[in-house]
Amino acid sequence: MKIIAILSIVLTVIKLSISNCYWSENCHYKYISSKTPYQFVRGDIRDSIVKLKGCEPISIWGLFRHGKRYPSKSYGGKMEDALAIRDYIISSYEKGRSSLCAQDIENLKNWVIDKKMFSEPRSLTTEGYEEMLGIGKRFKQAFPALLESLEKGSNTIRPAFGIWIENSAKAFVKGLGSNNVHIEKALSDSDVMAPYLTCGKYQMDVLHNQNVFSEAEKYKFNPDYLAAKDRIQRRSGIDYILTDTNVTALYDLCRHTWSGSENKLSPWCALFTKDDLQILEYIEDLKAYYKSGYGAPKSEVFGNIPLGDLFNNFRRTKDGGKKKITAYFTHATMLEMVYTSLGLFKDSKPLSSANRERERKWRSSFMAAFGVNFVAVLNRCVDNEVSDYAVVFYLNEEPIRSICADGICTWKEFEDKFSPFLNTTIDFCEFRSEPY
Ligand SMILES: *[C@@H]1O[C@H](CO)[C@@H](O)[C@H](O)[C@H]1NC(C)=O
Ligand SMILES: *[C@@H]1O[C@H](CO)[C@@H](O)[C@H](O)[C@H]1NC(C)=O
Repeated sequence: MKIIAILSIVLTVIKLSISNCYWSENCHYKYISSKTPYQFVRGDIRDSIVKLKGCEPISIWGLFRHGKRYPSKSYGGKMEDALAIRDYIISSYEKGRSSLCAQDIENLKNWVIDKKMFSEPRSLTTEGYEEMLGIGKRFKQAFPALLESLEKGSNTIRPAFGIWIENSAKAFVKGLGSNNVHIEKALSDSDVMAPYLTCGKYQMDVLHNQNVFSEAEKYKFNPDYLAAKDRIQRRSGIDYILTDTNVTALYDLCRHTWSGSENKLSPWCALFTKDDLQILEYIEDLKAYYKSGYGAPKSEVFGNIPLGDLFNNFRRTKDGGKKKITAYFTHATMLEMVYTSLGLFKDSKPLSSANRERERKWRSSFMAAFGVNFVAVLNRCVDNEVSDYAVVFYLNEEPIRSICADGICTWKEFEDKFSPFLNTTIDFCEFRSEPY
């Protein structure tokens, strides 16, 4: 009896220690908030394109987040400091204090830093370039006739301010495979794809207001988070106490060094269990919710601006215009504001530090991954020489079913829903602020 009991304990311990290995885990948790590779959340427009009988697509309008980029200077700096933790982890493992697996430790030891990660803050990575190139290519394949020749005047391609965003636009255009497409210069003044960026009042009330992040900060006292922090501490086995800054930096190292395109895991992620990753993801969701989602007073107003531009574009095309594609490149913030205007990803209760709702709709991993995109396609349908128009919406290359029934808006429905966006003003901005 005793032997069986001991044996079962031994077996449990063995099983536990094996299931703790990151490298051999079957299924890795892939949702790392706004640093999620596009690959993990995308559909494929070539398969999911909604073909309407008797109709042909005549114009595309899209809002695209940039592809994967390196961290900003401030986050990067903290990650660079945290690199030292690698040596502490390895030495605590050697002293028998870390519960990481031998292979995870070996992988961490052999991990080679991509030097550009800190020397080129915010620049588009090779993977980010590939993400945008892939989107362009798939759209070209899904809409061959429409995108075949993009002559002058048939397209508007414009990035928001920022070199990584400009390079994302270039990659997308390369993917379209059209040689003479002109990419417009980013405007330094308020523009449709980033009106909040130069809005003085928004910068003051939201970006430079610590209260905006108070729910996220409060969550760091939630037992959920404290337990995760404790697990990370114990797994690393290091003998000084990790601060919240250290935990965030380690999470960022895991997120930034994970390759989505090559499907290569980062050994830094071995420090986290799936639960830990979900808890850290929630902090990012809280931040986004109160910065650019339903919890921020002006999100909806800013979101209306690109949607008004969408309506204008399609109305002009319907009235005989020649615009085949309008593509704007921007930040996660803008996409989140647009979802807010449209009532997408909306939960019945606001997100709070007190309760992490696991089934929530507001998930930055899906809404704000690298390369996420909101695209509308205008179709002309001819029946007995009478033209009618229909609009289909896509998010990350999958049809959005919630805007109109079955994901298809008649022109009338589209007009009723979208023309009110034209009336949006942001005269509350008061003064202009510099984007960066
Ligand atoms: C851990 O965080 C503290 C601040 O909270 C910082 O001073 C320290 O440099 C960090 N340690 C490492 C190794 O990053
Ligand atoms: C815009 O606002 C004006 C005045 O409030 C109103 O008369 C007009 O119908 C509105 N237009 C749209 C498209 O909602």
